[in-house]
Amino acid sequence: MTRVLVLNGPNLGRLGSREPDVYGSQDLSALRVLLAEEAGDGVEIDLRQTDDEAELVHWLYEAVDSRIPVILNPAAFTHYSYALRDAAALVTKAGVPLVEVHISNPHAREAFRHNSVISGVASGVIAGFGFESYVLALAAVRRAG
Ligand code: DQA
Repeated sequence: MTRVLVLNGPNLGRLGSREPDVYGSQDLSALRVLLAEEAGDGVEIDLRQTDDEAELVHWLYEAVDSRIPVILNPAAFTHYSYALRDAAALVTKAGVPLVEVHISNPHAREAFRHNSVISGVASGVIAGFGFESYVLALAAVRRAG
């Protein structure tokens, strides 16, 4: 069975109650169910969330070492984590797809959200479609695989 890592950064564990006007009212377990339905048999969705930069970096090493495609919502790390960027570069440089996703459209929000330090090393970026951003990323990862 093919596995896809769906990695979520800080504060995304609060989806459902966190700024529902921006992120919707569904939580990560609803996202897990949605992606498992979309994936169907033969693709395992391994969805994780952490508020810890080091843990996210280590999960990206796991993706490199096991050659597992990644859907990554870096959350606020998007805008300033060079450590995460360097780890994401290891993934794509190894020829493993990594799609950056955002629930909201950061470009339509505060200026500090307009820059992503991750995008330059990602295979591609999908933003602004709510949980559908992840569904579209799953389709992209499957085509790449
Ligand atoms: C986010 C956008 C980021 O700017 C923000 O810090 C998040 C979530 C999104 O999915 O829209 O935590 O990555």
